[in-house]
Amino acid sequence: MGRVTDKVAIITGAASGLGLASARRLAEEGARVVLADINLEQGQAVADEIPGARFEHLDVTREANWIALIDKVIADVGRLDILLNCAGIVRLASIEDTTEEIWRQINAVGTDGTFFGCKHALRVMKVAGGGSIINMCSTASIQGGPMIFAYAASKSAIRGMTKSVAVLSAQHGYGVRCNSVHPGNMRTPMLEGMKEIVRENDPEAAKAMENVWVGEPVDVANMVLFLASDESVAVNGAAMVVDNTTTITEGVVPH
Ligand SMILES: NC(=O)c1ccc[n+]([C@@H]2O[C@H](COP(=O)([O-])OP(=O)(O)OC[C@H]3O[C@@H](n4cnc5c(N)ncnc54)[C@H](O)[C@@H]3O)[C@@H](O)[C@H]2O)c1
Repeated sequence: MGRVTDKVAIITGAASGLGLASARRLAEEGARVVLADINLEQGQAVADEIPGARFEHLDVTREANWIALIDKVIADVGRLDILLNCAGIVRLASIEDTTEEIWRQINAVGTDGTFFGCKHALRVMKVAGGGSIINMCSTASIQGGPMIFAYAASKSAIRGMTKSVAVLSAQHGYGVRCNSVHPGNMRTPMLEGMKEIVRENDPEAAKAMENVWVGEPVDVANMVLFLASDESVAVNGAAMVVDNTTTITEGVVPH
């Protein structure tokens, strides 16, 4: 018996990185996973390799797309137990260099996407009497960062939304839990892309980055699995950090 046997899960940003690792881990433990991503080709290819999985094209920034996806899953399989809002993008810019375009792009995917996902998952989960919504945040929402101004703002908004959904659900007896996960640096294409830009623009900073702890996507997927399962029945509105102390030690884990 798996830890999430027969639960139905939607995972956004599932074509890559942490979303993909979480989809694989949930499927290993018996969930029926729906991988959702804007990247159709890659999403379909990775879904084909996961037993019982299916891929759905989704741009998380459009509420109409969310309504269509959630209603389709309910029509097809009759339930939604787990939503992992994992789609996200990052652009390196300080507040001084953050344009309206950068601000809106990052917040469209992170903030708007998570808002629409929570809203429409809650709509169907409360009717069924329960569910688990998991929002991918970041240690950026705890400590900020000079070059991730819009990203840290978006992750902080997601952290706040998470707690608001959790409290509403608890007060109204919806049975829906909502928690956020806050990874430090994790070995994914997003992190590799950031490191590449830093290497090109600031070799000193790139050298310093090499000393910062980096975790594996499965480390985050295991936290997602716990929050998705009934093992975390008393965990609601929590901010779960997966960073091996790096928020405490400013990045470098002391020896
Ligand atoms: N990698 C890290 O170090 C790290 C640390 C903390 C938090 N995070 C967060 O984890 C999440 C996943 O990051 P990752 O490292 O796996 O990145 P990634 O770039 O590997 O994957 C992100 C996925 O999101 C998808 N996506 C982007 N825009 C979308 C949209 N509009 N609609 C649907 N899908 C969209 C991409 O196609 C991609 O498949 C993000 O929210 C990120 O902010 C990552």
